[in-house]
Amino acid sequence: MATASPAKTTTPAAPAKGAAPAVDVSLPSRREFLYYIWGASIVLLLGQATAGIVWFALPRFKEGTFGGVFKFDPTRIPETPGAAPISEPIGRFWVSHTDEGVLALYAVCTHLGCLPKWVDTNGRFECPCHGSKYRLDGSWIEGPAPRGMDRFSTTLVFSDGSTASTNEAGAAIPLNGRTTADIVEVQINTGNRILLPPHA
Ligand code: FES
Repeated sequence: MATASPAKTTTPAAPAKGAAPAVDVSLPSRREFLYYIWGASIVLLLGQATAGIVWFALPRFKEGTFGGVFKFDPTRIPETPGAAPISEPIGRFWVSHTDEGVLALYAVCTHLGCLPKWVDTNGRFECPCHGSKYRLDGSWIEGPAPRGMDRFSTTLVFSDGSTASTNEAGAAIPLNGRTTADIVEVQINTGNRILLPPHA
């Protein structure tokens, strides 16, 4: 007589030793996915806008980080009053010759420190950053700059041995009937910056 074999029972297969446990991954819905994209776009835009504002607002150069007397070649002074000024990038100044005389202007804008350029066609300095404008003598015309361009204390030495220097107000040094050809030495003290009063 045949005997009934015991019923076989099956147990769920255990994960193989060392295998990673199964993870139930649920994909985001279409709506969630769009939210993520939208959020990432907003963050990216805000980041770009913030970086742009910081870049625009920061001064390009720090004022007053150098000093000392700078010798300027007198033959480079514009011969005619009203002629385009001469830039001296190493000393960070411009030398102007106006109807009132000769003066050295600090080449840094008094707003946030950009470098105004002389625009010959307009006969004035124009700052590329926020549009401040200055006359040949550095006086303010328009724009956010609080005052005219700063001046450096300057001394002119003439061929007869006499000298003339910038006064406390930073006014141009008058030539008093002499010409630039009579100037044999120009000393520009980049450590002594004279600030004009704020414009009204
Ligand atoms: S730095 Fe702003 S106008 Fe020159």
